[in-house]
Amino acid sequence: MAKADASKLDWNNLGFEYMDLPYRFTAHWKDGKWQDAGLTEDATLHISEASPVLHYGQAAFEGMKAYRTPDNHIQLFRPDRNAARLRNSCERLLMPVFPEDKFVDAVKQVVKANSDFVPPYGNGATMYLRPLIIGTGGVIGVHAAPEYIFTIFAMPVGNYFKGGLTPVNFTTSQYDRAAHKGTGQAKVGGNYAASLLPGENAHENGYADCVYLDPVEHRYIEEVGSANFFGITKDNVFKTPKSPSILPSITKYSLLYLAEHNLDLGVSEEKIDVHDLDQFSEAGACGTAAVISPIGGLEHDGDLHVFYSEKEVGPVTKKLYDTLTGIQFGTVEAPEGWVQQV
Ligand code: PLP
Ligand code: COI
Repeated sequence: MAKADASKLDWNNLGFEYMDLPYRFTAHWKDGKWQDAGLTEDATLHISEASPVLHYGQAAFEGMKAYRTPDNHIQLFRPDRNAARLRNSCERLLMPVFPEDKFVDAVKQVVKANSDFVPPYGNGATMYLRPLIIGTGGVIGVHAAPEYIFTIFAMPVGNYFKGGLTPVNFTTSQYDRAAHKGTGQAKVGGNYAASLLPGENAHENGYADCVYLDPVEHRYIEEVGSANFFGITKDNVFKTPKSPSILPSITKYSLLYLAEHNLDLGVSEEKIDVHDLDQFSEAGACGTAAVISPIGGLEHDGDLHVFYSEKEVGPVTKKLYDTLTGIQFGTVEAPEGWVQQV
């Protein structure tokens, strides 16, 4: 694959696609310690055919973004939260933890080294960063790997869901994403492999993605395959599902805080019955890649429930979006410790 060329990119029409940028950070776990840590130009990983990541899915990742501010600085949004979540994911899959302070420093190194690829301020485009850790080395029994590779690569991106702030429709899925005591709270590769078929079925039926229901009763909303779910009730409460099998979304927890402190809404994490969607005047999907994508309608058992509108974003969702992205791009004052300069 050809190296990306920043001078040839159309910043206003970026999709969410891989690009091979000049630099990435890699570190190797060998003989019980992290070594050879630093930037490299080599975009290819060289691993044993018997690597546990290939057979047994021993892999965890993160998703985060770097934002260019109007005064041309570059900043990260809550990178310490990604470091902490990757630690949890690694512990769940018996992988060594890359130290959290070194994680944040490595992210900054990757952003700085590829800074020509951080999109200019103004149209919502960002640099997406993908930290990843995989189990390598030769093992054929079901055991943790003897060696690991940690890498962070990056690419400029636009919208994840095609509509941006134009609503998209979702459908519930017959499949489960994760079990209550499984790996749903960890950001591990297997969860996403399991979501490919349900996601593809949703796309084939004209939906942006599917919304999973709880794995026990198939009644309570869990999350989207790549984002958390929230709804705004008719009496102005920001509600989001409480479940042991969903990813603890950094965007979701940020919105819970902003809804309460900046927008004066009520907030609640609780079970959300898919038969009780009438309580909501608006709904959305939230995440690093998704940012906030308004949900026009949610199809369940053949009925499409429209929330605010299939064409227009609702007023509360728009305010949440403006507040969140304002903080991320440095035009709205951030709560203490939420942004870090690169
Ligand atoms: N849920 C899933 C399954 C995800 O993949 C993501 C993306 O990271 C999210 C939720 C949102 O999490 P965050 O806001 O931390 O990006
Ligand atoms: C993210 O929002 O960072 C994600 O990881 C979602 C998806 C691209 C898997």
